[in-house]
Amino acid sequence: MYKKDFIDTNDFTREELLDMIGLSLEIKKAIKAGYYPPLMKDMNLAMIFQQSSTRTRVSFETAMSQLGGHAQYLGPGMIQLGGHETIGDTGKVLSHLVDVVMARVIDHKTIVELANACSVPVLNGMSDYNHPTQEIGDMCTIFENLPRGKKPEECKVVFVGDGTQVCASLGFITTKLGMHFVHYGPKSNQLNEEHKAILEANCKLSGGTWEVTDDRSSVRGADFIYTDVWYGLYENETPKEERVRVFHDYQVNRDLMQLGNIGCKFMHCLPATRGEDVTDEVADSASSLCWEEAGNRLTAMRGLLVYFTRCRKGHSELQIAAAKEELDAFLAERIYCR
Ligand code: CP
Repeated sequence: MYKKDFIDTNDFTREELLDMIGLSLEIKKAIKAGYYPPLMKDMNLAMIFQQSSTRTRVSFETAMSQLGGHAQYLGPGMIQLGGHETIGDTGKVLSHLVDVVMARVIDHKTIVELANACSVPVLNGMSDYNHPTQEIGDMCTIFENLPRGKKPEECKVVFVGDGTQVCASLGFITTKLGMHFVHYGPKSNQLNEEHKAILEANCKLSGGTWEVTDDRSSVRGADFIYTDVWYGLYENETPKEERVRVFHDYQVNRDLMQLGNIGCKFMHCLPATRGEDVTDEVADSASSLCWEEAGNRLTAMRGLLVYFTRCRKGHSELQIAAAKEELDAFLAERIYCR
């Protein structure tokens, strides 16, 4: 069944998610070989940001331009969303002005309301609940860096630290794809019961496994160790002393990396707080995939934009020629002749 919006990876089957990842990697391959497919030609993307962003903003904008389309940045405070104008009205208006919308929102309810109001596809560029575009990019990175001889479903992915929206989303997609997911974090900041129910339901279908724990031995045998900032350092920064008090045992450093399998890779959605969630030594090591991972945000955005606008009907040569003839005649008879 065609789904208009990309709000949560849990709305999609394993096969659909694999198609999104596969499409993203195929377009990447074409572009690497010098072919920029004009798959978003003449299309416009509205990019709504209620929070700051580097990777999400730049990757969406670059993706549109590489595929022949255009993106409009609508940053914090730049449009009426949720202020003078309701979210629903904004969605209806944007549907008449652009072909696709992405939004980074503070409250997950906003993206759901926006998607319900829009007749065009809406892509979730992160909310307080999840970060699904990040996870399509992360799966591209994992698929490109599988341990020798292992399939994705044989891999163990350990998220270390705060149970952020990135942690939840990583758990959602890995368990959907039949992988082995662990959240190793302090009891105060672990994934909650609602998250766990989703992990369990995903694993029942996929054959994957999940664990949420503060037991350090759970990191053993990891193929990928992933972390995020502590307490989500965007606009709402918690004092450093508090962060260090809660998370000091959960820094990704050389000792922690050594608990993983030989060849274990480090991942981070970024931005990182160097010296807190990860040491320089790990972030800049040969095991670190975090720069490649940032690059695969672009890989994912191209794939997702194409996947979610694929139902847009093209026009036949005949229709285009007839429209041109009609417009040319009007211009000649009524405008240019005056
Ligand atoms: N990882 C991520 O979403 O980065 P930005 O906040 O810079 O977009």
